[in-house]
Amino acid sequence: MEEIMRKTIKELFGVDLAAQITVNDVPEVPERVPGIDAGQIFIKEMVAMASIWYLYDQRSGLYLYGPTGSGKSSFSRQFMARLNRSVYEFHSTPQSEPAEFKGGFHLKGGNTVWVDGPLTAAARAGAVLLVDELDTLNPGCAMVLKSVLDGGSIALPELGEYVVPKKGFRVVATGNTAGNGDAWGRYASVRRQNIALMDCFAKIEVGYMPEGLETGLLGKMFPKLPATIIKGFVDLANDVRKLFIGAEDAPPSIDVTLSTRDMVRTMGYFAILMKRQKSLPENVMDALAISLPFGENAALKVAITGILQRRGFT
Ligand SMILES: Nc1ncnc2c1ncn2[C@@H]1O[C@H](COP(=O)(O)OP(=O)(O)OP(=O)(O)O)[C@@H](O)[C@H]1O
Ligand SMILES: [Mg+2]
Repeated sequence: MEEIMRKTIKELFGVDLAAQITVNDVPEVPERVPGIDAGQIFIKEMVAMASIWYLYDQRSGLYLYGPTGSGKSSFSRQFMARLNRSVYEFHSTPQSEPAEFKGGFHLKGGNTVWVDGPLTAAARAGAVLLVDELDTLNPGCAMVLKSVLDGGSIALPELGEYVVPKKGFRVVATGNTAGNGDAWGRYASVRRQNIALMDCFAKIEVGYMPEGLETGLLGKMFPKLPATIIKGFVDLANDVRKLFIGAEDAPPSIDVTLSTRDMVRTMGYFAILMKRQKSLPENVMDALAISLPFGENAALKVAITGILQRRGFT
């Protein structure tokens, strides 16, 4: 991997940090560099922590965990995109077998050919492996990943080969839980992960965006919507999130949240619905009704109606 271009973190991510970081001059596998999303908002603290990991901890993987739709996967891709790094993605499910992760024989034009899985492909190229939904990983894949993060090579007995990860190989993973399982039973398929695997990761907790940044993101995406409307939706979302996440002395009272992903979608519906001759509260509720599972979650609808009334939206 050629490494010659150094840029400040500020230039790359637009956050106020003076440190410099190396940008990959020639990507390992150019078609694997994620496309740059100019709309990505980088949060200073996340960039700082991820940069420390990237620059000073070549050994550990990086695990981003937090509630759904908070920006873990998009940050992983966009952080690496800005560094011009190639990313191989593995979308874990409880059914994913080591053969899918490491590689296996596939039928191609009547012949059986070996195809590297994302772990092996990233290791051979010295690229980045992104394991999305790591906390669903089954024990077989988890142990393969652990031994690689521990400095081991990837055993491919089918080929009689051991793949030693090339310099530059890094592992980033995302998940909704910290690896301890899901205390409230809201994330289907998640399982408690082996603590020895979790030990191999630096960890960043990714909460929902601070209010000002989320308002800015939505304002940029929907420039025709009045700022007061956007602020009203963000306030609503933050109230809903408090009920979803709960507090130390108060368990969560609803099991669906209003994530940043939901907000982007809901504002899109609202922008269309507001062209109708209906009142503001009706348009707000209709946009939320398309976005959220009101039909099967009465508690959510009651909570949202209450918040809207309290905030003078209705
Ligand atoms: N920092 C951000 N900048 C711009 N858009 C964002 C940001 N964070 C979240 N979003 C928006 O929210 C959507 C969901 O984000 P993302 O897929 O990264 O969430 P996630 O935390 O990985 O969720 P899940 O736990 O469900 O996998 C993105 O597609 C994007 O529209
Ligand atoms: Mg994700």
